[in-house]
Formats: sequence, structure tokens, C-alpha cells
Amino acid sequence: MIKHTYNELILNNREWAEKRLKGDKDYFKKLSEGQDPQYLIIGCSDSRVSITSLINAEPGELFVHRNIANRVSLIDINLLSVIEYSLEVLHIQDIIILGHYKCGGIKAAVEGSDLYMVHNWINPIRDIYINHRDELDKYDSNEKKYDRLAELNVIAQAENITKTRSMKKAFERKQYPALHGWIFDIYTGLIKEIPLPLKSWEKKGLVPAGYGE
Ligand code: CO
Repeated sequence: MIKHTYNELILNNREWAEKRLKGDKDYFKKLSEGQDPQYLIIGCSDSRVSITSLINAEPGELFVHRNIANRVSLIDINLLSVIEYSLEVLHIQDIIILGHYKCGGIKAAVEGSDLYMVHNWINPIRDIYINHRDELDKYDSNEKKYDRLAELNVIAQAENITKTRSMKKAFERKQYPALHGWIFDIYTGLIKEIPLPLKSWEKKGLVPAGYGE
């Protein structure tokens, strides 16, 4: 893994800014005028999941929230305000839940953590494990089991988005941001799209009829 010194980070930034200015002398003038991102990404804090560089996104394209194990907690005012702002002000068109393989938060959700705050934060993911135990305990390695749980966690957190007041309000004003589940496959560097059970959410009354078609 590449390790930059602190000073290298500052120098890298100078080089980056110069390069942008060479391409367009008004680059930062335009950037300073405001943001109009199409995507909200809710990802894991893991340093390897540096989403902007993984998909070559430019400044101004992604509105981003990250926390350990990319949870969507309905009592997290940090995330809830991000979602509210995304939908009511930015009119985000796509919401992406971004999980990843080899997620330490997922592993700790099953095995427990000695860190009090982390333990409490990830504990709800343990319920996802319990609910899918029949499937998950069939895997012959913990690695595969946790990677699959990371996928199931993406689906569960995407479902939680549909339960937020902000999302319901968006539907009420006929704004239908698309929901996407992504897994960053750390073994290959590729993003996998995880299909979301929109029809089953429709039956539960979480999303309007025909949503996602
Ligand atoms: Co993680």
C-alpha cells in the first residue's frame, strides 16, 4: 500500500490544483459557484473505499456520507440531515449505498467488538446476520460469510432509506430518486451492483407502485 508523508499530501494537492487550472483556468471559479451533484453516496469509512477515486468522479458530482459499515440509522441526525438536504435542496437523483468486502464493521457485528461505541454502532447489523443465519452459516469460510453479510447489509440499509420521512416526502411530491446497492469488491477493484428487492418493498408499502421500473 502506498504511504504518503504528510508533506507529500500538501504537495500532491498543489500539483492537482495546477493541473486543473491548466485544463480550465476558471475551474475553481466555477467550482466555487455552487454544487449540483446527481448522486448521494452512503459508504463505509474504511480508508480503502475512497469512492471518488474508484469511479473517477469529479469534485461537485458526489454528495457523500460515510460511517462505519455504511449504516442508515433512523436515529442518526447526521445522516438524516444529509438525506434531507440531498432530497429537498440538492434534488439528488440517485442514492447509492456502498458496502465493501472485508468490512471490519461487518465482521465485528458478528464477532463483537471490545470498543464500546463501535460495538453499539454496529450491533444492529448482527440482527441481519441472525435473520439470514440459515444462508450465511452454510459458507465454508468466515470470509465468504462476512462478504455475503456485507451484501445483505447494503440491501437492509437501502431499505432503511425508504423508511425515512425525507424519502416519503420526496415520493409525496413525485420525486423518485433511484436507489442503488453497490459493493466495492476489494479483491478485484470492481464495483458490483447488488439488486434491490423493490417489488417486495412495494408490497410492504415502503415505495410507491412501479418505483424503480
Ligand atoms: Co467497512
